[in-house]
Amino acid sequence: MKVLVLGAGGREHALAWSLAASPLVDKLYAAPGNAGIAAEAICVAIDVMDFARITAFCKDERIGFVVVGPEAPLCAGLVDHLEANGIMAFGPTQAAARLEGSKAFMKELCARHKIPTASFGRFTERDAAFRFIDAQSPPIVVKADGLAAGKGVIIAETRDAAKAAVADMLAGGLGAAGREVVIEEFLAGEELSYFALVDGTNLLELDAAQDHKRVFDGDQGPNTGGMGAYAPTPLATLALKNEIRTRIAQPLVDGLAEEGVPYKGVLFAGIMVTKDGPKLLEVNCRFGDPETQVLIPRLMSDLLPALIAARDGALKHVSLRWHDEAALCVVMASTGYPGAYTKGTVIRGVETAAQVPNVTIFHAGTKRGVDGALIADGGRVLNIVGRGPNVKAAQDAAYAAVARIDWPGGFCRSDIGWRAVKTLPP
Ligand code: AMP
Ligand code: GLY
Repeated sequence: MKVLVLGAGGREHALAWSLAASPLVDKLYAAPGNAGIAAEAICVAIDVMDFARITAFCKDERIGFVVVGPEAPLCAGLVDHLEANGIMAFGPTQAAARLEGSKAFMKELCARHKIPTASFGRFTERDAAFRFIDAQSPPIVVKADGLAAGKGVIIAETRDAAKAAVADMLAGGLGAAGREVVIEEFLAGEELSYFALVDGTNLLELDAAQDHKRVFDGDQGPNTGGMGAYAPTPLATLALKNEIRTRIAQPLVDGLAEEGVPYKGVLFAGIMVTKDGPKLLEVNCRFGDPETQVLIPRLMSDLLPALIAARDGALKHVSLRWHDEAALCVVMASTGYPGAYTKGTVIRGVETAAQVPNVTIFHAGTKRGVDGALIADGGRVLNIVGRGPNVKAAQDAAYAAVARIDWPGGFCRSDIGWRAVKTLPP
């Protein structure tokens, strides 16, 4: 079968790396891909939002299955478009992708189906939002309803800051994404990312991972797309995962099915583990980045049949086997990220870094220069993944590889996995 992976990040490199190893895949394509994905797949220069060109390419090349990486094309209806053209694709329909595309939709669904989440109000009028804020005690969480590329959530320490955030969003500060705002109760606790494949009805749990969202060591500084991740995590005990599945993930799937918008694809539940149990922070309708980079290397089974079964409504017949080991990913980013950064700096040493035992390197924003040199071409650039019998061994492997990378234009955190490592006996 010919398979096309859409996207250009570390998540898509991990997916392509796994799919390239499937005996079912005759030829693997990626659009647009990156310099690392080019080692696994034939990269074609098509934008993930260019539905017409993607469809034409799939028809010309007789692509049997499309795996959509990022949320933007899913929320814009790419899967509906492909399926309407007779092309099989992995991911939710536009209606089901609203779980990520509209925070208000997600919160209302939780309310209708009694799924534990922060209490909330939704507003399009400033004065009503301000009155609601006056009745809350800080911190207060303000969210733009729509997709805002990670900039749509403000944790306000005061009512005035919450009002300023609301005023900015409703005035168009985040474009259409902020036309409506959701104001939420602040949840204290530890966060985890929970993943399951879903086929409309059935849910096949993958695993949970922990991400590091803040840019600097000690979880300081502004939020990013994710500076590193690890799995499994000691926080996600079997009992906790069962609770998340039965009280949050399966009720989401059942609720959507009941309401006539069956969900297919990967369900990524952002969970806050509070003193009152797990609560749903957000839902993403795609794989996590960098969480996927620590899930995929531990997967022993062929990924492709599981993705196809999710699309076909046949997950009941699938079980997956996992390597009994930990994986930890250190993200290397261009200096300045998540603020302004320069593209085009040269990266050396990736080949020698990849020779460190138990290390796999997934590329994100990379490209090749005319001389074949590896060039940074984005904010998050490389994902250095170490594996080992426990998270400390995985961390040691990853950082041994990081030490071999010569990239004056980049940086990474030096403490990825600190919480989990702290729980291990010395
Ligand atoms: P989201 O895009 O909804 O995941 O929000 C981004 C980040 O903001 C989350 O990963 C949390 O760290 C934080 N966050 C979102 N909602 C809440 C909440 N209700 N209470 C505390 N933190 C939150
Ligand atoms: N790492 C968080 C995300 O993929 O949204």
